[in-house]
Amino acid sequence: MDKRIINNIDLLTSALASLSAENKWLDSKWFYDPAGSVLFEDITKLPEYYPTRTEVKILTKNIDQLQAYIPDGAALVELGSGSSTKTRILLDRFHNLNAYLPLDISEEFLKQSANELAFDYPDLIVDPVVADFMVPFKFPENHVNSSKIAFFPGSTIGNLESDKAIQLLASIHEWNQVSAFIIGIDLIKDIDTLISAYDDAAGVTAAFNLNILHRMNREIGANFDLEKYKHEARWNVEQSRIEMHLVSLVAQIVNIGATKICFEAGESIHTENSHKYSQQSFAKIAAQSGWNISKFITDEDDFFAVAVLQPK
Ligand code: SAH
Ligand code: AVI
Repeated sequence: MDKRIINNIDLLTSALASLSAENKWLDSKWFYDPAGSVLFEDITKLPEYYPTRTEVKILTKNIDQLQAYIPDGAALVELGSGSSTKTRILLDRFHNLNAYLPLDISEEFLKQSANELAFDYPDLIVDPVVADFMVPFKFPENHVNSSKIAFFPGSTIGNLESDKAIQLLASIHEWNQVSAFIIGIDLIKDIDTLISAYDDAAGVTAAFNLNILHRMNREIGANFDLEKYKHEARWNVEQSRIEMHLVSLVAQIVNIGATKICFEAGESIHTENSHKYSQQSFAKIAAQSGWNISKFITDEDDFFAVAVLQPK
């Protein structure tokens, strides 16, 4: 008897649909199970992965300017908060905040990070929200009417195609009492820097990418052989994005529960987009979703930007 179990119906439904498409793909939100969240943290420490250290530098250097946008008693709401490491830069300076609401899809990792933060900032209310930020969610009752600052660091906005990015930015614009939105944006730069950030020498990004197959084996009864796929990072110039792919090394058939998925040798599963913006292209999606750009702060190499948006 087949003992493989299915314990994630949402992942099963999503994966069966996207792997049955002519060009196979997976929604990158499925990277973030407990193992994927830890692997992402490892990526942030790689020498090739410039976004994290660059954004940390921008936030640290400009924290006094950012303080001006924080109303007394506000709640800081972070989308895709992960380890909340960068948030500490804000919390160490914004003593007038009343609450911190980290929101993430990776439940266990979110809860652990929130517990650590609550311990280190005992005067702050820390209320984690487990949610998919693309699906309408409810704020905890006691925060519905509080004044809010949205925080979306990491350039996670880049993982969305432009219609979805506009949809998300517009939904944040509709939050009750949101007065400012601090967002991290990765900028267009030379291809070598981009490719090595997504294909590091130590193979951590490859492990992060392959973990999505491992997750399907664990959670939806798939039987992917991880040895038979290789990680690839590609620059798509028309779409201004890095794409991550898992390329099948051989012709093979994979079972997901009772469904068979056929791969030709060299066929890929497109697992992630990471769009890179210019100030102009970001201004366009911000304007389309109801935001004015009040500040656009970059590092000395123009590798990354932190923008402060305010409702029009
Ligand atoms: N903000 C952190 C982590 C970025 S990694 C940083 O800047 O380093 C992206 C984070 O977004 C992960 O923690 C992941 O679990 C979360 N995430 C990805 N897709 C999501 C979705 N659809 N809804 C909610 N969280 C999501
Ligand atoms: C979370 N997100 C912004 C990361 C990125 O750079 O697109 C995810 C990632 N994928 C590979 N490395 C990092």
